[in-house]
Amino acid sequence: MHNKIHHSLLQWYKINGRHELPWRLTNDPYKVYVSEIMLQQTQVKTVLERFYFPFLEAFPTMEDLARASLDDVLKKWEGLGYYTRAKNLYLAARKCQGILPKNASELLELPGIGRSTAHAISAFAYKESLPILDANVKRILYRYFAIEKRDEKLLWKATYELFDSSHPFEYNQAMMDLGSLICLSKKPLCDVCPFEQGCAGKFTPQQYPEAKVKKIKPIRNRIIVVYKYNDKFALSQSKERFLHGLWGFMKYELFEKNEGVYLGHITQHYSHFTLQADVYMSKGDYVHEECEWFTLSEIAKLSLSRADHKVLKLIT
Ligand code: ADE
Repeated sequence: MHNKIHHSLLQWYKINGRHELPWRLTNDPYKVYVSEIMLQQTQVKTVLERFYFPFLEAFPTMEDLARASLDDVLKKWEGLGYYTRAKNLYLAARKCQGILPKNASELLELPGIGRSTAHAISAFAYKESLPILDANVKRILYRYFAIEKRDEKLLWKATYELFDSSHPFEYNQAMMDLGSLICLSKKPLCDVCPFEQGCAGKFTPQQYPEAKVKKIKPIRNRIIVVYKYNDKFALSQSKERFLHGLWGFMKYELFEKNEGVYLGHITQHYSHFTLQADVYMSKGDYVHEECEWFTLSEIAKLSLSRADHKVLKLIT
């Protein structure tokens, strides 16, 4: 039905696609899987320059990943953010005993793999004929079909509607490239877009979809307390979904400030809040909460959040 558009997209991809991306040059499903998980919430440039290769060097196969410890996996993920991704990757490797399932419906059973990621992995690693629906593809579809209302169900219908089922690998990769090179969220380059002919939203791309109501990012005020005893520092490991598995200095909503010596202030911006924290060195060494004690060289081997690296700088 969309023959002309498919042809035009494939031609555009041949000339302009990012063919050199390493996860497009491999046929190892595990490497495709790692790339898709890293790329879920992180830009290509960051993944490519700092995380993809070191992670694969540390855990070259899914069996290696399954045999590793969660702390080692988190250490390799340090700085990439959204740490539940690393934990799920690790749990998935263990669950399937180092052998990745070979189709989207089984991939979907693994922790951390949603429908779009399952489709991406199976289309890229196994050439299964399924469309994806990541943020880039969504933006294209909203505009192409001039959809104003934000509606996930409708978008899944739209992505199947536009899909080129004969070229699942090229089509999906091309859509991602089109989203990040041409159909830009602020100023789309419609003049050079291969979809220019069929795009219903090209005259008013900013209308599709309707603007989100902007939420103001809340501020979380905390007190961070550095407890030191015999050259060891008290750290606790996050059990929450947020920063899961990462180690950090003790954090409190309330703390009697006269019990400590002021060391400085840190600010850390996260996707859904901003952390503002005064940092104190405790006068005592007794910690009420669950914690473990580490020397500085032991801390260097742990996975810490960015905020805790800032605290570390204040004390070293
Ligand atoms: N984002 C998610 N998957 C991607 C891929 N395969 N290539 C480029 N960006 C991506």
